[in-house]
Amino acid sequence: MLEIKNLHAAVDGKEILKGVDLSVNAGEVHAIMGPNGSGKSTLSYVLSGRDGYDITQGDILYNGESIIDQSPDERAASGIFLAFQYPLEIPGVPTMTFLRTALNAQRRARGETELDAVKFLKLVRGKARDLKIKEEMLKRPLNVGFSGGEKKRNEVLQMSLFEPTLAILDETDSGLDIDALKIVSEGVNLLRSPERSMVVITHYQRLLDYIVPDHVHVLAHGRIVRSGGKDLAQQLEDSGYESIVSDAA
Ligand SMILES: Nc1ncnc2c1ncn2[C@@H]1O[C@H](COP(=O)(O)OP(=O)(O)O)[C@@H](O)[C@H]1O
Ligand SMILES: [Mg+2]
Repeated sequence: MLEIKNLHAAVDGKEILKGVDLSVNAGEVHAIMGPNGSGKSTLSYVLSGRDGYDITQGDILYNGESIIDQSPDERAASGIFLAFQYPLEIPGVPTMTFLRTALNAQRRARGETELDAVKFLKLVRGKARDLKIKEEMLKRPLNVGFSGGEKKRNEVLQMSLFEPTLAILDETDSGLDIDALKIVSEGVNLLRSPERSMVVITHYQRLLDYIVPDHVHVLAHGRIVRSGGKDLAQQLEDSGYESIVSDAA
């Protein structure tokens, strides 16, 4: 599904990713952990194709094809979804309008018919209910004045609407209290399927008690320095990043 090969990427001429290798098969959930500033968000932005992130070496293959020359929209249309660590606020655009426009843009790009207002409302209501999102929130401008937890729930709502094949979740646990963490994790777990892969980025082990990954990787200084099973997350929680990161340096 996803194959990252010796990926080097720079922002403003500064190299942040320094040779990332990662292979994710269909149906797998991979967790990427690592200290602050290790390049986790940068990796997620590079995968989504955000402007300003230059790939200086290496390649990203999605279903066997290189995507590094594709625009963010093309990647989204082909089923790649990124839930942001810091979701964008769009004053003046009701959340509901944003969601319908984005979903229909993807459907058009895939040659599918657009959903009309009635069909969309029915769909979004059901999914919002599962995530305990109030309809009143969907009428407010996208993310404006939302609490940290509301923003993260809204990201997971988008993901459940878009039904991506590859979902990248960047610190979806940050800003969530324990109840919200459970709701969000349940929402994510409902989307696990043999056809869908997920890359779950988190600083803390706690999220991985709820979203149990198949593989765990530690990113430090722009590289994956350790990979293992779900036990690796617990080990990190117990001993901290220090030992692993300094071993690798
Ligand atoms: N726009 C930018 N310009 C310069 N440096 C940046 C920029 N964005 C991120 N960085 C640097 O890249 C490194 C990795 O950042 P980031 O990917 O956000 O790490 P993480 O998500 O793991 O905390 C940090 O040292 C950060 O300061
Ligand atoms: Mg980050």
